[in-house]
Amino acid sequence: MLRNNKADVRVGLLGFGIVGQGLIQGINMQMSNISRRLGTPLKIQRALVQDTNKKRIIGAPELTTYACDILEDPDIDIVVEVMGGEQPAYGYIKQALEQGKQVVTANKLLLARHGPELKALARRNQTGLFYEGSVLGGIPILRTIQRGLCGDRVEEFKGIFNGTTNFILSRMYELGEDYSTALRLAQAAGYAEANPAMDVSGLDAACKLVILYRECFDLEIQLQDVTMSGIKHLDQRQIALQKRQGRIPKLIACAKPQNSEITVGVEWLPDGDSLSQVSGVQNALSLRTLLAGELFWSGPGAGGLATGGAVLGDIMESAERVLTERDRGFLQAGR
Ligand SMILES: NC(=O)c1ccc[n+]([C@@H]2O[C@H](COP(=O)([O-])OP(=O)(O)OC[C@H]3O[C@@H](n4cnc5c(N)ncnc54)[C@H](OP(=O)(O)O)[C@@H]3O)[C@@H](O)[C@H]2O)c1
Repeated sequence: MLRNNKADVRVGLLGFGIVGQGLIQGINMQMSNISRRLGTPLKIQRALVQDTNKKRIIGAPELTTYACDILEDPDIDIVVEVMGGEQPAYGYIKQALEQGKQVVTANKLLLARHGPELKALARRNQTGLFYEGSVLGGIPILRTIQRGLCGDRVEEFKGIFNGTTNFILSRMYELGEDYSTALRLAQAAGYAEANPAMDVSGLDAACKLVILYRECFDLEIQLQDVTMSGIKHLDQRQIALQKRQGRIPKLIACAKPQNSEITVGVEWLPDGDSLSQVSGVQNALSLRTLLAGELFWSGPGAGGLATGGAVLGDIMESAERVLTERDRGFLQAGR
């Protein structure tokens, strides 16, 4: 095999927070599997952070505060953006793609706003843009749609796309807590940010809905196309009233292209509905396809290890591409 003669595949991280560190933990746990599968080691070259002195939960690769140490390093084959936010992440990803580097990202906000443009840029530069970690964390849904369901057709989907709001709603429903107590607990447990606006407004779920919608239906939609409401308006009086009728509140993301329905909002689900049984920080997706009918997934929608695992899957796929390209170059040079 040509691959055994090749050098390792090198990765640069933009960000070394919850997901970045979860990724390194995952790589450490899977090191020998990864090398065996690729036929060569995967090396994390360095990571971009804001503060190199911050305490981390895991031994860091070399840290830098200069993005050019990653974006302009010719030895780095794959750039992994796990810093979050729109800027400067957007500019960094564009720069990496323009240089023909493979890019992996878990940044749902960025993809919801700029996904089609970045995918086109990747195509023009004959490289790859991978983003499994951006939708439902540890549930491998994008690859399933792109590969597993490529002979089928998704007709509609519905799901719980945000673990923080599901945690809050579960506590309000099951334990009778009010909204602010449940939110405080979510923050103390590390499920909600100090500023929880993106979760509780429904924006986080809407970003994932937009990304998944484009994958399922191959249609261009934007965040503005989503009819969105959050969970802040809910109170115990409403919950108690609905509970007596056996109805459970869930923040549901729903896409039914036949009815032009693209929504994120609270639905009161009957006890028997499979989504009503998804409790705490779990995410879930119910998908109806033309051939297979109803399909259902549930699992961790966030967290360092689960999301890091999804990012690692993307790194593996892009590393395969890097190695195939090297093999091709090697063969051409030998002609
Ligand atoms: N957390 C999850 O469970 C989860 C799940 C799915 C998707 N995601 C997505 O994954 C991405 C990362 O999330 P996270 O939770 O890992 O975030 P995080 O814990 O806040 O980590 C962000 C990292 O990026 C670095 N960073 C941020 N802005 C920077 C800048 N301007 N220059 C240099 N470094 C910068 C930070 O540096 P310092 O460490 O020095 O502060 C930190 O290492 C986001 O797009 C998020 O939406 C997260």
